[in-house]
Amino acid sequence: MNFWSKARCNLRQWPLLRRQLATHNISPGSIPPLTSSKGPTAIMLLNMGGPATIPEVHNFLYRLFADEDLMPLGKYQKQIARFISWRRTPKIEQHYSEIGGGSPIRRWSEYQGREMCRILDILSPETGPHVPFVGFRYANPLTETAFQQILDSGIKRAIAFTQYPQYSCSTTGSSLNELSTLSKQLDPEGTIHWSIIDRWPTHDGLVSSFAELITAKLESAYKPEEQEEVILLFSAHSLPMSVVNRGDPYPAEVAATVWAVMNKLGFKNKYRLVWQSQVGPTPWLGAQTSDTVKALAKKGQKMMLIPIAFTSDHIETLHELDLEIIGELEEEGFTGITRADSLNGHPVFVEALADVVINHLKQGAVATKQYAMTCPMCTKESCISSRKFFLEEQRGL
Ligand code: FES
Repeated sequence: MNFWSKARCNLRQWPLLRRQLATHNISPGSIPPLTSSKGPTAIMLLNMGGPATIPEVHNFLYRLFADEDLMPLGKYQKQIARFISWRRTPKIEQHYSEIGGGSPIRRWSEYQGREMCRILDILSPETGPHVPFVGFRYANPLTETAFQQILDSGIKRAIAFTQYPQYSCSTTGSSLNELSTLSKQLDPEGTIHWSIIDRWPTHDGLVSSFAELITAKLESAYKPEEQEEVILLFSAHSLPMSVVNRGDPYPAEVAATVWAVMNKLGFKNKYRLVWQSQVGPTPWLGAQTSDTVKALAKKGQKMMLIPIAFTSDHIETLHELDLEIIGELEEEGFTGITRADSLNGHPVFVEALADVVINHLKQGAVATKQYAMTCPMCTKESCISSRKFFLEEQRGL
């Protein structure tokens, strides 16, 4: 089957893809033939990752606590990380066993990457074939594994695509700092030319996916007369206040996503943005998700939790939201508390991923303008050298 036969077949089977073609004003006649390809293009999906099996939990936790971009613990970071990961491993292993024996984030990331590239091969054949790689910061497949795979493949053009829609120096920033360090170690000649998608908090496809999943849950879990009375609680991973006060853009970008989703929904429901997963004794950004849900439940309020900063299920949705917060309140007799499904394999979301990449390719920029600005109170050499790497050395792309 030739390319266009395949594309026609996909279009018949995939009405949403047709809408995508219209959005980009691409008609079959205007797509250059595959022979004019400037590809291949590697796309590395960056995320924190999660242990796919119980034996992987300890190493996952150690890497997480050893990352000073995520959790600055001072001079003895590695020693403290060793101690905390040893202390917390049994409890966290138990949590993973309660959600089926591991995190599904790898499975979802691989699915999302594969489907996204299938769409990209049709919509942007000139940069194809597009080859997905998953690069996790703390779990397999690690960023360094993905980097080596790209080197081994011989692909010379790569996009680092963060799967955190809202930028934080603790998440996307950490992954990009790691990627620039790896590039100097594993590819000192600079044979791979990188560009980065560092944030996409208000992308219309992302916003539409959230809106569709919220509407679906309202319609399936509540009676028609109850639906507009349900409070929408958008929940995102919290940050230590030391990180917020350094000038991290994450709280503002998460709020931008929430506002865009509420706008798409016509502001029919009351809502709040709340923050989950705090650890340790230092102050973190609030209000805490668990406190808020309990307080509203005691007032008899129906509510829906929406994980607004994760693109797939993992421990924070399946355990913290579903079992620890909703499950425990249900055991106490509270009802009407639900969670919107995660983005996972939602077809509108997979199309959104492809659209984000196409916009990036069309713009031809190495990164967003915002990436060039470090946090006003940042003094970290790694943040400066990664910007130098991506914005100066890759400029000739
Ligand atoms: Fe934000 Fe360094 S901590 S740029």
